[in-house]
Amino acid sequence: MIVLKMVHRAMINYNYLIIDPSTRQAVIVDPAWQIEKIDQALNNAQATLVGILLTHAHADHINLAKPLAAKYNCRIWMSKQEIASSGFNAPQLVAIDETPWSVGQMQIQPILTPGHTPGCICYQIADNLFTGDVLFAEGCGICFDIPSAHLMYHSLEKLTARLKPQTQIFPGHSYGKPPGRVFGKILQENMYLHFRDPHSFAAFRLRSGQRYKNLQ
Ligand SMILES: [Fe+2]
Repeated sequence: MIVLKMVHRAMINYNYLIIDPSTRQAVIVDPAWQIEKIDQALNNAQATLVGILLTHAHADHINLAKPLAAKYNCRIWMSKQEIASSGFNAPQLVAIDETPWSVGQMQIQPILTPGHTPGCICYQIADNLFTGDVLFAEGCGICFDIPSAHLMYHSLEKLTARLKPQTQIFPGHSYGKPPGRVFGKILQENMYLHFRDPHSFAAFRLRSGQRYKNLQ
């Protein structure tokens, strides 16, 4: 896997290029801002881009999806719910649910995790989870109202029940800790994973005076 740190003005997004070693087929998560870095990484790795995994439809996560799909003639995957709620469209778009599929010998397992948006999805490939704006090492994605915060609570609960301590977490952004932290560590350090019920979680997640738009 190749981690690409993409910068646009004050924004920093992490993109992840995952390459199947047997076929050199590659997928990329949430491509944004610097297409030249993606071209170069594919070239250096002698890999072919076959698809784009989108966690959700916010602009900083889909920024390069259409240009890349056109350039490499590859698919774009997004959850049915996110397509319906955002109106995102592209000729290469494939609507997905939680049914896994394979690229070369890599199995891609989507996990629906709504809350930050109605159709947020995480993607698990082997022991790596790509979380977009759902789970950060330091917190979780912003929620916009009580129902969305309740959804986020249940999505984090779903991930906690499902992930192994050694699963590496690759979020869309970092607020201090580098991508790839194991879930066991995040579980110890991230207070958003320790609320007992959706109501107390929502009260905290939606509190006023938060410093970071996406996090706290
Ligand atoms: Fe977002």
